[in-house]
Amino acid sequence: MSKEVLVTGGGGYIGSTIVSALEDAGHMPIVLDSLVNGRAELARGLPFYRGDIADPDIVSAVFEDHPNIGCAIHCAALAIVPDSVNRPYDYYRNNVAGSMELFKTLAEHGCGDIIFSSSASVYGATGGVMVTEESRVSPESPYARTKLMTEMMLEDMSASFGLRSLALRYFNPIGADPMMRSGQVQREASQIVAVLVEVASGKRDVFRVTGTEWPTRDGTGIRDYVHVWDLALAHARAVDRMDGIFADGAGFEIVNLGTGTGVTVREMVSAFERVHGSEISKVDAPPRPGDVAGAYASADKAMRLLGWKPTLTLEEAFAHAIEWAGIADANGLG
Ligand SMILES: NC(=O)c1ccc[n+]([C@@H]2O[C@H](COP(=O)([O-])OP(=O)(O)OC[C@H]3O[C@@H](n4cnc5c(N)ncnc54)[C@H](O)[C@@H]3O)[C@@H](O)[C@H]2O)c1
Repeated sequence: MSKEVLVTGGGGYIGSTIVSALEDAGHMPIVLDSLVNGRAELARGLPFYRGDIADPDIVSAVFEDHPNIGCAIHCAALAIVPDSVNRPYDYYRNNVAGSMELFKTLAEHGCGDIIFSSSASVYGATGGVMVTEESRVSPESPYARTKLMTEMMLEDMSASFGLRSLALRYFNPIGADPMMRSGQVQREASQIVAVLVEVASGKRDVFRVTGTEWPTRDGTGIRDYVHVWDLALAHARAVDRMDGIFADGAGFEIVNLGTGTGVTVREMVSAFERVHGSEISKVDAPPRPGDVAGAYASADKAMRLLGWKPTLTLEEAFAHAIEWAGIADANGLG
């Protein structure tokens, strides 16, 4: 059944990809984004509202135009870990206080289903091991703490307002929409893939393998890279499965979204070089402040509740990221 779905942060990297997955699944996405970081172009003519999630007037305006919205996917956030260390007030205000206002306004408008973009960073430095949804949380940056606090708040508000809410803890999203409708839009390349692409294209001199003495199979950090398109499909799947997930009524669930297998930084660089067709310039370096050994997801609960597991490979993610970088540059989106 086709549903109207509000996507906050739908002008950003992950939100815009979710919008495409929802459209492909026959749903009608409606985008709310302040454009503090995103790009309106990525909403591609869909209903788009420019405004802040904390502003009840703009959220109410969305519901006046689209009273049938029953589900919100909440991606809007400030999301750069080192930036959060320098700007904790902005991060708590935007991500925690903003989400608090949003959840209240959504509940007032009868929007009973909330899918929240959470993060594997809530698990903290886990020593290179697999984590399940029951693993101990230990957020190590202001950003990660905003994600955990928002989860806790959402759980409490779900119980009180009668919401059905799902916190999806993303591991490491990479790549771009295979149909090239969207991809990474932030100007400041902070993610490993963006940096690899920049080194390969000559925009950056060298790739720094930061941290080579972690307790992992080759000493470099381990992560769980999940193709952003697979991630987006998980959201479309979740929208369709809320009745099944919450068969007993209101509630709150946490689901990890990862591949279930880790990849080390060195393995990742090798995979990138296979796609690029030649070696890139790289150098070993000490860990940066705040770096951790990393973790990878148990994907069992995602399979059980959403019937979802990623299907795209790391090589495909790289190929899509490289193709998108060219398109973004050509269109002034990079
Ligand atoms: N990219 C990752 O590696 C990663 C990993 C785990 C979780 N997440 C989460 O996924 C979500 C999306 O991340 P992304 O990588 O697409 O980031 P992004 O910066 O590309 O997108 C976030 C979007 O939210 C918008 N936004 C921010 N604050 C807003 C506000 N107060 N009101 C309205 N719009 C606002 C921005 O303009 C931007 O378009 C975030 O919640 C992030 O915490 C991202």
